[in-house]
Amino acid sequence: MKFNVLTLFPEMFDSLSHSILKRAQEQELIEINTLNIRDFSTNKHKKVDDYPYGGGAGMVMKIQPVRDALLSIANHSSENSSRVVYLTPKGKVFNQKLACELALEDELTLLCGHYEGIDQRIIDEYVTDEISIGDYVLTGGELPAMVLIDSVARLRNGVLGQNVSYEDESHYSGLLEYAHYTRPSDFEGKKVPEVLLSGNHQLIEEYRLEESIKLTLKRRPDMIKKWQKNHELSRLEQKILDKYIDK
Ligand code: ADE
Repeated sequence: MKFNVLTLFPEMFDSLSHSILKRAQEQELIEINTLNIRDFSTNKHKKVDDYPYGGGAGMVMKIQPVRDALLSIANHSSENSSRVVYLTPKGKVFNQKLACELALEDELTLLCGHYEGIDQRIIDEYVTDEISIGDYVLTGGELPAMVLIDSVARLRNGVLGQNVSYEDESHYSGLLEYAHYTRPSDFEGKKVPEVLLSGNHQLIEEYRLEESIKLTLKRRPDMIKKWQKNHELSRLEQKILDKYIDK
Protein backbone atom coordinates (compact mmCIF):
# COMPACT_ATOMS: atom_id res chain seq x y z
CA MET A 1 0.00 0.00 0.00
CA LYS A 2 1.33 3.39 -0.96
CA PHE A 3 0.86 6.50 1.19
CA ASN A 4 1.62 9.78 -0.58
CA VAL A 5 2.06 12.52 2.00
CA LEU A 6 1.95 16.20 1.03
CA THR A 7 3.55 18.21 3.80
CA LEU A 8 5.75 21.19 4.58
CA PHE A 9 7.68 19.01 7.07
CA PRO A 10 8.64 15.72 5.37
CA GLU A 11 11.37 15.01 7.98
CA MET A 12 8.68 14.44 10.59
CA PHE A 13 7.75 11.25 8.76
CA ASP A 14 11.21 9.79 9.38
CA SER A 15 9.82 8.75 12.74
CA LEU A 16 7.75 6.11 10.95
CA SER A 17 10.97 4.30 10.03
CA HIS A 18 11.26 2.37 13.26
CA SER A 19 10.11 -0.98 14.53
CA ILE A 20 7.12 -2.57 12.77
CA LEU A 21 6.61 0.13 10.15
CA LYS A 22 10.31 0.12 9.32
CA ARG A 23 10.14 -3.61 8.60
CA ALA A 24 6.91 -3.16 6.63
CA GLN A 25 8.66 -0.62 4.42
CA GLU A 26 11.72 -2.82 3.98
CA GLN A 27 9.47 -5.71 2.97
CA GLU A 28 7.65 -3.36 0.58
CA LEU A 29 4.32 -4.04 2.26
CA ILE A 30 3.88 -0.30 2.58
CA GLU A 31 5.57 2.70 0.98
CA ILE A 32 5.59 6.20 2.42
CA ASN A 33 6.19 8.73 -0.32
CA THR A 34 6.59 12.22 1.15
CA LEU A 35 6.39 15.29 -1.05
CA ASN A 36 7.52 18.67 0.20
CA ILE A 37 4.83 21.14 -0.85
CA ARG A 38 7.41 23.94 -0.79
CA ASP A 39 9.33 22.27 -3.64
CA PHE A 40 6.34 22.91 -5.89
CA SER A 41 6.02 26.63 -5.23
CA THR A 42 6.63 28.71 -8.36
CA ASN A 43 7.18 31.80 -6.21
CA LYS A 44 10.80 32.95 -6.27
CA HIS A 45 10.93 32.91 -2.46
CA LYS A 46 9.19 29.50 -2.36
CA LYS A 47 6.30 31.08 -0.51
CA VAL A 48 3.55 28.63 0.38
CA ASP A 49 1.14 30.75 2.44
CA ASP A 50 -0.58 34.10 2.30
CA TYR A 51 -2.97 36.37 4.22
CA PRO A 52 -6.62 35.31 4.35
CA TYR A 53 -9.11 37.22 2.21
CA GLY A 54 -11.58 38.96 4.48
CA GLY A 55 -8.93 39.39 7.18
CA GLY A 56 -8.43 37.51 10.40
CA ALA A 57 -5.58 35.90 12.23
CA GLY A 58 -3.09 33.46 10.72
CA MET A 59 -2.07 32.50 7.22
CA VAL A 60 -3.64 30.24 4.63
CA MET A 61 -1.79 27.71 2.46
CA LYS A 62 -1.87 28.77 -1.19
CA ILE A 63 -3.52 26.78 -3.97
CA GLN A 64 -0.72 26.63 -6.52
CA PRO A 65 1.97 24.60 -4.69
CA VAL A 66 -0.57 22.18 -3.24
CA ARG A 67 -2.32 21.67 -6.60
CA ASP A 68 0.99 21.07 -8.38
CA ALA A 69 2.19 18.66 -5.70
CA LEU A 70 -1.08 16.71 -6.07
CA LEU A 71 -0.83 16.65 -9.86
CA SER A 72 2.76 15.40 -9.66
CA ILE A 73 1.50 12.15 -8.16
CA ALA A 74 1.20 9.77 -11.08
CA ASN A 75 -2.50 9.23 -11.39
CA HIS A 76 -3.94 12.39 -9.94
CA SER A 77 -4.81 13.78 -13.30
CA SER A 78 -6.78 10.65 -14.24
CA GLU A 79 -10.20 9.28 -13.32
CA ASN A 80 -8.97 6.45 -11.10
CA SER A 81 -6.98 8.64 -8.74
CA SER A 82 -6.52 7.60 -5.12
CA ARG A 83 -8.57 9.02 -2.27
CA VAL A 84 -7.18 12.33 -1.03
CA VAL A 85 -7.48 12.72 2.72
CA TYR A 86 -7.18 16.17 4.25
CA LEU A 87 -6.36 16.03 7.98
CA THR A 88 -8.38 18.69 9.75
CA PRO A 89 -10.14 19.14 13.10
CA LYS A 90 -13.27 19.89 11.02
CA GLY A 91 -13.27 16.36 9.56
CA LYS A 92 -15.10 13.16 10.34
CA VAL A 93 -13.67 11.67 13.55
CA PHE A 94 -11.27 8.80 12.82
CA ASN A 95 -11.99 5.38 14.30
CA GLN A 96 -11.17 1.71 13.79
CA LYS A 97 -13.99 1.22 11.29
CA LEU A 98 -12.62 4.00 9.10
CA ALA A 99 -9.09 2.58 9.48
CA CYS A 100 -10.37 -0.81 8.22
CA GLU A 101 -12.11 0.88 5.29
CA LEU A 102 -8.97 2.82 4.28
CA ALA A 103 -6.81 -0.30 4.62
CA LEU A 104 -8.69 -1.74 1.61
CA GLU A 105 -7.21 0.93 -0.65
CA ASP A 106 -3.96 0.34 -2.54
CA GLU A 107 -2.97 4.00 -2.46
CA LEU A 108 -3.90 6.95 -0.26
CA THR A 109 -2.86 10.57 -0.52
CA LEU A 110 -2.68 12.53 2.71
CA LEU A 111 -2.67 16.29 2.76
CA CYS A 112 -1.26 17.98 5.85
CA GLY A 113 -2.37 21.53 6.54
CA HIS A 114 -0.57 24.15 8.56
CA TYR A 115 -1.25 27.69 9.73
CA GLU A 116 -5.00 28.41 9.60
CA GLY A 117 -5.60 25.79 6.90
CA ILE A 118 -5.63 25.39 3.14
CA ASP A 119 -7.40 27.44 0.48
CA GLN A 120 -10.91 25.97 0.34
CA ARG A 121 -10.74 25.57 -3.46
CA ILE A 122 -8.18 22.75 -3.04
CA ILE A 123 -10.56 20.95 -0.70
CA ASP A 124 -13.52 21.46 -3.03
CA GLU A 125 -11.66 20.20 -6.08
CA TYR A 126 -9.40 17.39 -4.90
CA VAL A 127 -10.17 16.20 -1.39
CA THR A 128 -12.36 13.11 -1.05
CA ASP A 129 -12.21 12.72 2.76
CA GLU A 130 -11.74 15.23 5.58
CA ILE A 131 -10.59 13.40 8.69
CA SER A 132 -9.97 14.53 12.28
CA ILE A 133 -8.12 12.33 14.77
CA GLY A 134 -10.10 13.70 17.72
CA ASP A 135 -11.79 16.70 19.23
CA TYR A 136 -8.69 18.76 19.94
CA VAL A 137 -6.54 21.04 17.81
CA LEU A 138 -2.92 20.37 16.83
CA THR A 139 -0.45 22.69 15.12
CA GLY A 140 -0.61 20.80 11.82
CA GLY A 141 -1.79 17.71 10.01
CA GLU A 142 1.50 15.77 10.25
CA LEU A 143 0.89 14.00 13.56
CA PRO A 144 -2.69 13.13 12.50
CA ALA A 145 -1.36 11.77 9.18
CA MET A 146 1.15 9.61 11.08
CA VAL A 147 -1.59 8.32 13.36
CA LEU A 148 -3.66 7.41 10.32
CA ILE A 149 -0.74 5.71 8.53
CA ASP A 150 0.16 3.67 11.62
CA SER A 151 -3.37 2.46 12.27
CA VAL A 152 -4.08 1.66 8.61
CA ALA A 153 -0.69 0.06 7.85
CA ARG A 154 -0.91 -2.42 10.75
CA LEU A 155 -4.13 -3.78 9.25
CA ARG A 156 -2.44 -4.70 5.95
CA ASN A 157 -1.59 -8.34 5.41
CA GLY A 158 1.81 -9.33 6.76
CA VAL A 159 2.57 -6.07 8.57
CA LEU A 160 2.06 -7.54 12.06
CA GLY A 161 3.08 -11.04 10.98
CA GLN A 162 1.04 -13.86 9.50
CA ASN A 163 -0.96 -15.25 12.40
CA VAL A 164 -2.30 -12.21 14.15
CA SER A 165 -5.93 -11.83 15.01
CA TYR A 166 -7.54 -8.46 15.50
CA GLU A 167 -10.68 -9.93 16.99
CA ASP A 168 -9.83 -9.34 20.64
CA GLU A 169 -8.33 -5.90 20.17
CA SER A 170 -10.02 -2.90 21.70
CA HIS A 171 -12.36 -1.24 19.20
CA TYR A 172 -12.29 -4.11 16.73
CA SER A 173 -14.80 -6.33 18.48
CA GLY A 174 -16.73 -3.35 19.82
CA LEU A 175 -15.42 -3.97 23.36
CA LEU A 176 -12.28 -2.85 25.16
CA GLU A 177 -9.66 -5.56 25.42
CA TYR A 178 -9.00 -7.58 28.60
CA ALA A 179 -5.77 -7.09 30.61
CA HIS A 180 -2.53 -8.95 29.81
CA TYR A 181 0.05 -10.55 32.13
CA THR A 182 3.39 -12.28 31.69
CA ARG A 183 5.95 -13.99 33.94
CA PRO A 184 6.51 -14.06 36.84
CA SER A 185 3.09 -15.19 38.08
CA ASP A 186 3.87 -13.67 41.47
CA PHE A 187 5.84 -10.42 41.57
CA GLU A 188 6.47 -9.32 45.17
CA GLY A 189 3.07 -10.64 46.19
CA LYS A 190 1.20 -9.21 43.20
CA LYS A 191 -0.37 -12.25 41.60
CA VAL A 192 -1.65 -13.00 38.11
CA PRO A 193 -5.35 -14.04 38.11
CA GLU A 194 -5.43 -17.77 38.90
CA VAL A 195 -7.62 -18.75 35.93
CA LEU A 196 -4.94 -17.63 33.44
CA LEU A 197 -2.58 -20.25 34.87
CA SER A 198 -5.21 -23.04 34.72
CA GLY A 199 -4.54 -24.13 31.13
CA ASN A 200 -8.34 -24.41 30.65
CA HIS A 201 -8.87 -22.52 27.40
CA GLN A 202 -12.63 -22.28 27.63
CA LEU A 203 -12.51 -20.91 31.16
CA ILE A 204 -9.82 -18.43 30.12
CA GLU A 205 -11.89 -17.28 27.16
CA GLU A 206 -14.96 -16.78 29.36
CA TYR A 207 -12.93 -14.94 31.98
CA ARG A 208 -11.47 -12.61 29.34
CA LEU A 209 -14.88 -11.93 27.83
CA GLU A 210 -16.23 -11.07 31.28
CA GLU A 211 -13.27 -8.74 31.94
CA SER A 212 -13.82 -7.04 28.56
CA ILE A 213 -17.50 -6.48 29.19
CA LYS A 214 -16.89 -5.23 32.76
CA LEU A 215 -14.20 -2.78 31.62
CA THR A 216 -16.22 -1.48 28.69
CA LEU A 217 -19.30 -0.99 30.88
CA LYS A 218 -17.23 0.97 33.35
CA ARG A 219 -15.18 3.09 30.93
CA ARG A 220 -17.21 3.26 27.74
CA PRO A 221 -20.91 2.65 28.29
CA ASP A 222 -21.47 4.31 24.89
CA MET A 223 -19.59 1.41 23.27
CA ILE A 224 -21.72 -1.19 25.05
CA LYS A 225 -24.86 0.35 23.57
CA LYS A 226 -23.41 0.14 20.05
CA TRP A 227 -22.12 -3.39 20.65
CA GLN A 228 -25.61 -4.54 21.69
CA LYS A 229 -27.13 -2.87 18.64
CA ASN A 230 -24.60 -4.09 16.07
CA HIS A 231 -24.37 -7.77 16.88
CA GLU A 232 -26.47 -10.57 18.20
CA LEU A 233 -25.34 -11.32 21.73
CA SER A 234 -24.51 -14.93 22.58
CA ARG A 235 -26.15 -16.45 25.66
CA LEU A 236 -22.90 -16.06 27.56
CA GLU A 237 -22.47 -12.41 26.56
CA GLN A 238 -26.07 -11.69 27.62
CA LYS A 239 -25.57 -13.53 30.92
CA ILE A 240 -22.44 -11.52 31.73
CA LEU A 241 -24.11 -8.27 30.75
CA ASP A 242 -27.12 -9.03 32.98
CA LYS A 243 -24.75 -9.75 35.86
CA TYR A 244 -23.11 -6.31 35.72
CA ILE A 245 -25.67 -3.97 34.30
CA ASP A 246 -27.10 -1.44 36.80
CA LYS A 247 -24.55 -2.42 39.44
N1 ADE B 1 -4.99 19.34 12.39
C1 ADE B 1 -5.01 20.01 13.55
N2 ADE B 1 -5.71 19.35 14.48
C2 ADE B 1 -6.15 18.20 13.89
C3 ADE B 1 -6.91 17.11 14.33
N3 ADE B 1 -7.41 17.03 15.57
N4 ADE B 1 -7.17 16.11 13.46
C4 ADE B 1 -6.72 16.19 12.20
N5 ADE B 1 -5.99 17.20 11.73
C5 ADE B 1 -5.70 18.22 12.56
